[in-house]
Amino acid sequence: MKGIVLAGGTGSRLYPLTKITNKHLLPIYDKPMIYYPIQTLVNAGIEDIMIVTGGNNAGDFLRLLGNGREFGLKRLHYTYQERPGGIAHALSLAEDFADGDKIVLILGDNIIEGNIRKAVEDFRRQERGAKVLLKEVENPQSYGVAEIREGRIVRIEEKPEHPKTNYAVIGIYMYDNRVFDIIRTLKPSARGELEITDVNNKYVEWGEMTYEFLEGWWADAGESIDYYLKANNLVAKYGANKMEL
Ligand code: G1P
Repeated sequence: MKGIVLAGGTGSRLYPLTKITNKHLLPIYDKPMIYYPIQTLVNAGIEDIMIVTGGNNAGDFLRLLGNGREFGLKRLHYTYQERPGGIAHALSLAEDFADGDKIVLILGDNIIEGNIRKAVEDFRRQERGAKVLLKEVENPQSYGVAEIREGRIVRIEEKPEHPKTNYAVIGIYMYDNRVFDIIRTLKPSARGELEITDVNNKYVEWGEMTYEFLEGWWADAGESIDYYLKANNLVAKYGANKMEL
């Protein structure tokens, strides 16, 4: 299984912190933000990792992370997104790297208290399709929201005004290699992006989407300045990326 960390975008919701640097290089308590999603993959046993970044600060990632020795990795792979085009567009840049394997995609601003080892092991055994992780939240309007009927996801809505549930689809996704074929069929959304929620709904339509609930806290540190602060406080108080909860 290959791991892909997305670290592009403009970080407009954290402006002016992101005026001269990339969001994923900002501190979360005692480490740069991108350390956490990399650790999440490493803790799940994924050692083949690609960072997708863009903008003016791409070189800083190489200086910061090098070959990933701090994470016990032999090397890290990098690719460059020439212009922001959404999560699914960024993922498409990793097709050659994935090389036919299943992938775990993690958004570079998603930080978790625990680990995703069991979910990744379950997905290794899943013959085909995709898996998402859900977390009950108070502000589902800010996320992809899963509608569940009779134990199955029947639809995911991106940032709905009137969410049908409180189950946010967090920014950690598992796909088989057909994800790249799906991305080729996508049309940009109203916000001009190739949406990961459209990818997920394709697997839902095929009846090949599974899900698990995440244990421990989850923070989307890029959601707003308040959630950025909240993520810092959660890491300071409870710690992140624990192998046991
Ligand atoms: C993205 C996805 C959304 C998901 C969220 C998790 O939103 O589009 O479905 O719930 O990440 O962090 P964004 O933060 O890019 O607006």
